[in-house]
Amino acid sequence: MNGFKEPGMRNVGSYSSMADDDDLDLSRLPDRPKLPIERQRSCDERSMTELSINVRALESFDSLYSPGGMRSGFSTPASTARNPFEPHPIIAEAWEALRRSIVYFKGEPIGTIAAYDHASEEVLNYDQVFVRDFVPSALAFLMNGEPEMVKNFLLKTLYLQGWEKRIDRFKLGEGVMPASFKVLHDPVRKTDTLVADFGESAIGRVAPVDSGFWWIILLRAYTKSTGDSSLAESPECQKGIRLILTLCLSEGFDTFPTLLCADGCSMIDRRMGIYGYPIEIQALFFMALRCALTMLKHDSEGKEFVERIVKRLHALSYHMRTYFWLDFQQLNDIYRYKTEEYSHTAVNKFNVIPDSIPDWVFDFMPTRGGYFIGNVSPARMDFRWFALGNCVAILSSLATPEQSMAVMDLIEERWEELVGEMPLKVTYPAIESHEWRIVTGCDPKNTRWSYHNGGSWPVLLWLLTAACIKTGRPQIARRAIELAENRLLKDSWPEYYDGKLGRYIGKQARKFQTWSIAGYLVAKMMLEDPSHLGMVSLEEDKAMKPLIKRSASWTCPEISLDLIL
Ligand code: GLC
Repeated sequence: MNGFKEPGMRNVGSYSSMADDDDLDLSRLPDRPKLPIERQRSCDERSMTELSINVRALESFDSLYSPGGMRSGFSTPASTARNPFEPHPIIAEAWEALRRSIVYFKGEPIGTIAAYDHASEEVLNYDQVFVRDFVPSALAFLMNGEPEMVKNFLLKTLYLQGWEKRIDRFKLGEGVMPASFKVLHDPVRKTDTLVADFGESAIGRVAPVDSGFWWIILLRAYTKSTGDSSLAESPECQKGIRLILTLCLSEGFDTFPTLLCADGCSMIDRRMGIYGYPIEIQALFFMALRCALTMLKHDSEGKEFVERIVKRLHALSYHMRTYFWLDFQQLNDIYRYKTEEYSHTAVNKFNVIPDSIPDWVFDFMPTRGGYFIGNVSPARMDFRWFALGNCVAILSSLATPEQSMAVMDLIEERWEELVGEMPLKVTYPAIESHEWRIVTGCDPKNTRWSYHNGGSWPVLLWLLTAACIKTGRPQIARRAIELAENRLLKDSWPEYYDGKLGRYIGKQARKFQTWSIAGYLVAKMMLEDPSHLGMVSLEEDKAMKPLIKRSASWTCPEISLDLIL
């Protein structure tokens, strides 16, 4: 650190110095599931037994990793008979509901509808296939050895990406993937037509930045699960990846490697004060870049992108691990920040005014644990917790192993706040009163402790479970799944729950929300067979070391590319 006070990099519990850990290695290491070998502080006897089962399961990963076939043995009603443990009775119901949500195009399954809620008078756009919503469905089908629909989905969305996209007189970037699409059936002519929404019909007209990232992540999951790399290697998919990358790697006036975003451009698709550099997008951006790197061909067109990705990943991981990370020590440092520092030696790089730290965060921050905060930009730190961004940071290894452990510690320490009676709070805490008026624009759907504003979303269970398995804490996932199991079927699979503890079915929550169903199934299947984790997780890459130390963060680090080329 050479006299430079680098926020956030030193104190993650009592773990060793992170100075050597934040260098991202980008060699093509096989990204298998990480073996949860090291015993963590919170592991009890039960979890250790589970871990040894997990290790055995992972040891036989290669034999499991055979294309096709029913691998889960614990998922569909048909396969439950083979399960040596007693499956939870709601699994069969969940599969039935999931299959009911399948959407067909010319007789082929191409995705799942967002919600199959006949009781709701207002369908809005919940009758569409959302790209982000389809991800847990796709994982469930992949884990169950049914990849066809996933392939159809990837190809259809690729085709939609190729459309000319206009909003009023403005033409959107070529690479933009739709937020959602639907199939119009004409019973008279017997034709099917696709209609896509790139943000022009969405509330607030915001284009989904996350769609393209999810598409890349899903393409890798498909490749990993089936062992079939021909789809990813096809010229169409290679072009699709490059078009998405062109959008997010383009140069602008930015001084940060993070991606500048409009409010509402992710799962949180309404105004919620996440404009700027939201963690939800930065973590997905990082993961998509790493996934793209494993799939891009090193041909004349791909090579340039590979080089750009490597540079960006390097800068992005440094930036996120340093400036977005918050733990007790870091909070204390910010609290004591001086302001108005000028020059490269500034400690308070973004001129954050300590008075802007909200009161709640001082109580919320445990001595053990930490997390990536919501947003960092000039004089603005959004200290809120965002579940998706933190889980994806763990899965993509954007978080160092120490940071990953600290996030899990935080979840344990703040269980009541972040999980309560229904996993998992999408954001914490809720914003209220005057702040709610200003930040949400008086959005009646996003009142305090509801929907995106501190609501609890069962879909996040699969991300939490994956993060738990990766960090060797399956007992946390088990606890969360038990909570969900007690209510989800009884409540007809709501989209979200409201209240500080998540006790109430959300004010305007749809029932039979597909990703609530699929998220639960994926969580169950992953716990049962941890080798599935490899589909959605990337190992930390250690082979590439930066040539200079990070104390010189204001210079442009040189990167040794020969290691990856
Ligand atoms: C809501 C959610 C969004 C989701 C969509 C369909 O708009 O905010 O994340 O994709 O519903 O379920």
